[in-house]
Amino acid sequence: MPQLSQRISTLNGDGSDGWGVFYRARELKAQGHDIIELTIGEHDIGTDPSILAAMDRAAHAGHTGYAMVPGTDDLRREIAQRLSQRTGTPTTADNILVTPGGQSALFAAHMAVLEPGDSALYIDPFYATYPGTIRAASGIPVSLATRARDAFLPDADMLRKTALQHGAKSLLINTPNNPTGMIYPRDTLDEIAKVCRDQDMWLMSDEVYDTQIWEGAHISPRSLPDMAERTLVIGSMSKSHAMTGSRIGWIAAPEQVIERLIDLATNTTYGVPGYIQDAALFALTAGPELEAQVAAPFRRRRDAALQVLNNQTAVQVIPSRGAMYLMIDIRATGLSGEAFAYRLLEEHRIAVMPGESFGSAAAGHLRIALTTDDDLLLDALDRLCRFAARLIAEKTL
Ligand SMILES: Cc1ncc(COP(=O)(O)O)c(C=O)c1O
Repeated sequence: MPQLSQRISTLNGDGSDGWGVFYRARELKAQGHDIIELTIGEHDIGTDPSILAAMDRAAHAGHTGYAMVPGTDDLRREIAQRLSQRTGTPTTADNILVTPGGQSALFAAHMAVLEPGDSALYIDPFYATYPGTIRAASGIPVSLATRARDAFLPDADMLRKTALQHGAKSLLINTPNNPTGMIYPRDTLDEIAKVCRDQDMWLMSDEVYDTQIWEGAHISPRSLPDMAERTLVIGSMSKSHAMTGSRIGWIAAPEQVIERLIDLATNTTYGVPGYIQDAALFALTAGPELEAQVAAPFRRRRDAALQVLNNQTAVQVIPSRGAMYLMIDIRATGLSGEAFAYRLLEEHRIAVMPGESFGSAAAGHLRIALTTDDDLLLDALDRLCRFAARLIAEKTL
């Protein structure tokens, strides 16, 4: 076989993909064991029947051929109006490219701004694909560590130093955050924006969880002074409308960036199926109720989970303000997140993601996805806390 490209051979770096506990849980399940899975960032409901009906109507109306590569005019206009309304930043259809999901938007965004070999910053802990996405765009991923004691918010001085040291071309942030559940407050975003302006960097803002806000407010950094010209916003219908399998999202960016991104889409994805775009348009124009309905179980479970977690001292909870996750600090047990997660799975049949799966900054933590039935979730959390308490007691014997 001729040689594969260096780029694709090294896409995932040399470490593991971090999904070991998840794969082991699936293996145990296949062997017939009852496993409570708190691992995956996907709803426990399907896409709403009204959205599926819109998809069906569009397909039967003949929207099954090649669709407009940048997105249909109506959908681009609707997304633009949504962003204008929600962020206060004037946005037109020319600022929008419809993409096959947020992941493809993340890749396209980095392709748009990186020369091969450019350094691209991202914040640790991070959504698992970030470094690979940057490598896929021929960039060099550079992580910026945050600390649990700062609620995993980036430190502006460290950001400036790292950006300078690497001559970074871009910074990727994610708010509301996966895996921490944090929402970046205004002052953090102001500081980030200042560094981006001072260092002439692009800002990639992954806002795929922007409809899952439990406390405080989501601010898009594109709305900050002089930031619209250097910010590429990544949006998606996956989390907001339980449309993960439909693969539909967008990039909002300056018009000149979108023009070039349309060239990229023409030569890569060739757009998103028309019937999916029509279903997305239906979903976005259906009003806020649909979104609220999709978000409601996560809010309810997060509140109930916090009650359990705030009633014990073995584990500490990071104050989750948004997204479908809770981050738990288990360092008092003396185990790594990974060792704890494997033991919890083998001894208690509960699967959670080790913090280490999301970068070294989250070592000694666990990510709990709020994507399982309320009673199972609360039972699992109760047992997790008792397991942690037992480990702490054994340690001090
Ligand atoms: C932070 C973050 N960004 C982007 C994505 C990609 O989502 P999608 O490609 O389904 O829109 C995910 C999915 O879990 C995510 O958690």
